[in-house]
Amino acid sequence: MHFDILTLFPGMFEGPFEESIIKRAREAGLVTIALHNIRDYATGRHRVTDDTPYGGGGGMIMKPEPIFAAVEGVLGEHTGSVPVILLTPQGKLFSQQVARQLARQPRLVLICGRYEGVDERVHHHLATDEISIGDYVLSGGELPAMVIVDAVTRLIPGVLGDPGATFEDSHAEGLLEYPQYTRPPDYRGYRVPEELLSGHHAEITRWRRQQALRRTWLRRPELLEHARLSKEDQAYLDELASEEEGARSSG
Ligand code: ADE
Repeated sequence: MHFDILTLFPGMFEGPFEESIIKRAREAGLVTIALHNIRDYATGRHRVTDDTPYGGGGGMIMKPEPIFAAVEGVLGEHTGSVPVILLTPQGKLFSQQVARQLARQPRLVLICGRYEGVDERVHHHLATDEISIGDYVLSGGELPAMVIVDAVTRLIPGVLGDPGATFEDSHAEGLLEYPQYTRPPDYRGYRVPEELLSGHHAEITRWRRQQALRRTWLRRPELLEHARLSKEDQAYLDELASEEEGARSSG
């Protein structure tokens, strides 16, 4: 996978891309990341990249020319055949499913917006996708780009040691992850659940599944609408619902 990141602040990426999983993925040649400074594609003595909005109002808007020039300069003959993703709060919401779709591509361009916005012609005539990482407004697309690079990189085969690791993640199957414990079995009287200490594989699997279902039901019930559920899962959820119903009517 090759990422081209277009930004006014390439220095922001130095720490996050030089540690841990992404660092190792880069060293192994599984991922390559090229940072491109949009200012290098701006013209004129001052290399201006922003301007005031037509129609007035506060703030500055990123000009279209340097961004078009950067994408076309970076992609050259590949312009038009590589997804060009603009990070913006107006985009579709990023999710594990979107991460999986992106991980199938050999190359991605990520454009980090800044200031109060990006000229609409970039949205319409240059970006092939617009992605938001959540319903809040950040100062720019740099942190969202890092989020996407991280989420996508760990899905690339070979990046994580254990091929089962991403399969069991929260959201991988549309459920939150079950609780995890490691030694010691008793810490300050807080005990690891007996089911996990039993060494009984089928019991552990069942306990984990039920915990994942219970957590999702309590914390993110809307996820259950799209989760793949077996008959046994559904029976357990019905049990939770009737326990709650019982507690409510007796309380
Ligand atoms: N730029 C500013 N806020 C953003 C967000 N939530 N997602 C993606 N890009 C952004």
